[in-house]
Amino acid sequence: MFKYVGVIGAGTMGAGIAMAIATCKSDVYLYDVNDTVLRRAVERIKSDLKKGVQKGKLTTEESLSIIERIRPKTHLPDLSPSDFIIEAVVEDLRVKRDLLRRVEEVVKHGTIIASNTSSLPITSIAAGVKLPSKVVGMHFFNPAHIMKLVEVIRGDRTSEETIHSTMAFASSLGKTPVIVKDTPGFIVNRVARPFYGEALRIAGENIATYAQIDRICRSVAGFAMGPFELMDLIGIDVNLSVTQSMYDQFSGEPRYRPHPIQKRMVEAGKLGRKTNEGFYTYDEFKKTKVEGSGN
Ligand code: NAI
Repeated sequence: MFKYVGVIGAGTMGAGIAMAIATCKSDVYLYDVNDTVLRRAVERIKSDLKKGVQKGKLTTEESLSIIERIRPKTHLPDLSPSDFIIEAVVEDLRVKRDLLRRVEEVVKHGTIIASNTSSLPITSIAAGVKLPSKVVGMHFFNPAHIMKLVEVIRGDRTSEETIHSTMAFASSLGKTPVIVKDTPGFIVNRVARPFYGEALRIAGENIATYAQIDRICRSVAGFAMGPFELMDLIGIDVNLSVTQSMYDQFSGEPRYRPHPIQKRMVEAGKLGRKTNEGFYTYDEFKKTKVEGSGN
């Protein structure tokens, strides 16, 4: 739908979003402040595409052209030809607000800037830009190249036209967009908070281990993943930032209080799959869970 799309932040989500967009034939400028992260993102996309080829979902030629469409950048003005921007940087209001102001200076006048925030108000993220009518939430789910749902968030100043274009763009990516209100955690992350929070409390009180809780949720309750496996996939740092943000936005509501286990793991650098160690450990090369590594 758009010829050029800028994706800002090449971490877990930025890489998946870039892959989803390049698969649908747009060129992607994938920007990050960190060159190493950018290189790793491209490697991860290549590895996911290779798996797709092995499973017969696409041809080798298709996978090569997807990679060619992704252009890694470390210089923000390189994103200037973009027809649509999606930011997926750290879950920090100040960082996102400052970034959007700088992005607005380099892109064409009136370019839509979407935020992949998990929990922060779009109205606050847009507070410093000249055209808040062009700022919208576009919340993808992890892994972004696979998950169909996209929450489209209408900030207080987002225009109807911006919502319409964002919905159309998400649909053109084969996603299922839903419009949600600009409230902390929107719908899915609010529903999901007790899933993580109670699981952490159960483990913290030694009622059951991480692996036991995951196994029961998966094999008996029918969840696709248990809470600890999911936190490892999301990133324990990201999950903590989202919980903290919701706790703050709900004025210290005890239901959303971050758990000390999460805080300690972030301090220890055990962030989940991205560091090969979280609630479980992972084989660095195969990226698979090491058997019996949960507590
Ligand atoms: P991540 O930590 O994997 O990646 C964030 C990236 O942003 C890093 O590569 C970092 O170098 C880069 N970055 C930081 N400041 C920057 C700046 N000023 N300019 C350019 N790049 C910058 O984080 P992840 O998981 O990709 O999350 C990104 C956003 O997506 C967050 O807002 C998060 O809440 C949201 N999100 C995360 C999901 C998940 O499952 N991890 C799911 C849905 C949304």
